[in-house]
Amino acid sequence: MAGIPHDHYEPKTSSESWLYRRLPIVGLLYDTLMIPTPKNLNWMWIWGIVLTFCLLLQIGTGIVLAMHYTPHVDMAFASIEHIMRNVNAGHMIRYAHMNGASLFFFAVYLHIFRGLYYGSYKEPREVTWIIGILIFVLMMGTAFMGYVLPWGQMSFWGATVITGLFGAIPLVGEPIQTLLLGGPAVDNATLNRFFSLHYLLPFVIAALVAVHIWAFHTTGNNNPTGVEVRRDSKEVAEKDTVPFWPYYVLKDLFALAIILAIFFAVVGFMPNYLGHPDNYIEANPLATPAHIVPEWYFLPFYAILRAFTADVWVVIIADFVTGGIVDAKLFGVLAMFGAIVVMALAPWLDTSSVRSGRYRPMFKWWFWLLVVDFVVLMWCGAQPAEPPYSTIALIASTYWFAYFLVILPLLGVMEKPLPRPATIEADFDAHYSETGGTHTAVNPAE
Ligand code: HEM
Repeated sequence: MAGIPHDHYEPKTSSESWLYRRLPIVGLLYDTLMIPTPKNLNWMWIWGIVLTFCLLLQIGTGIVLAMHYTPHVDMAFASIEHIMRNVNAGHMIRYAHMNGASLFFFAVYLHIFRGLYYGSYKEPREVTWIIGILIFVLMMGTAFMGYVLPWGQMSFWGATVITGLFGAIPLVGEPIQTLLLGGPAVDNATLNRFFSLHYLLPFVIAALVAVHIWAFHTTGNNNPTGVEVRRDSKEVAEKDTVPFWPYYVLKDLFALAIILAIFFAVVGFMPNYLGHPDNYIEANPLATPAHIVPEWYFLPFYAILRAFTADVWVVIIADFVTGGIVDAKLFGVLAMFGAIVVMALAPWLDTSSVRSGRYRPMFKWWFWLLVVDFVVLMWCGAQPAEPPYSTIALIASTYWFAYFLVILPLLGVMEKPLPRPATIEADFDAHYSETGGTHTAVNPAE
């Protein structure tokens, strides 16, 4: 697909030309910053910048923390206390890093649900979507390993439970688990490899973010109408777009400033609100905490993991058919990873010819039910694994899969979409022009 026609960088001075002939990096930055962007983007398009900020914040604060942290089971917990008490601004840097992870996940969930609502995953943005999913999986791995580093009770027992899941995989499970832990149980070798990987993965994520941005700069951004920018000529394209700089840079920075005001209020006044008090007790392999609860952002997936117990009929059938290989534990692990896989497959499961949820009257209801479902799963993940919570978690997990595997494919066939604006310009004028503009309908089946 041809890109949106626009002005490209031209070196103006002789030194710019000198560099341009050797390394067109200024041109690359210029074209990235001036990229024509649909002019009707709403406030749900700010999260990408918030996420980029979070990544930089985590890398920046993480590098300073690593200067004072000791990855050894005898010293890790004490070195965190040392950071909190003795290192200049150490408590602020640690609290910013700790809560930065929460902001990162808060933003990524809104970013993902934005994509799900406006159909940003649909053709031609499948690659942007898949890379996003890869980033999300790596974010989860990074956050999980980071939580082990303070070597508190939740660090230790969380790591024990989650790495124990790998043991459920037939044949290769136990060797994988041993490799992951560096021995038979969570110990010094585990702490060391988690520290190493926790330092490495954010840079892998950064590289993937560059590819993510490259991908959606190739296709152009989606927008709330889901109608594409016209590409016939530069003049026509300019009616649908504005350059990213200064319009969206300023809008995004304004949103970021508000979010950061709230973020730093949390960091300053209630830094431990989202954490678990047990993680201020040093890890003790001989004392299991009463409830092992992961961080809030893992709770929906943790709920899915625990939902499929041995008495659920699909588990009984799977166990029977596979001769006991797929037992409740393995089923739970498959369901947890499967919940992400079905989301990754959304571009191919959604059969609708209309991209944006705005013009899909039936889809809207199911989508908002999915949002509620996600919150319910998050709540279930924090409850004990017993009735009635286990039943609610099972129903909510089932809906998650049903949404992607049944509802999305069927809706595309059954639903009669609403008329869409013919162009982004028409949508923009309908909202913002003084005359109100015209809302030209297009054939939904087009
Ligand atoms: C470190 C994490 C991430 C960063 C820094 C990031 C960054 C961005 C940015 C800057 C945009 C431009 C539009 C916007 O600001 O919303 C964007 C778009 C997009 N992102 Fe992400 N993203 C991340 C994770 C994800 C994840 C986890 C997914 C999905 C699973 C995803 C899916 C998408 C899609 C489909 C678009 C295209 C939307 C459009 O074209 O307007 N991203 N991303």
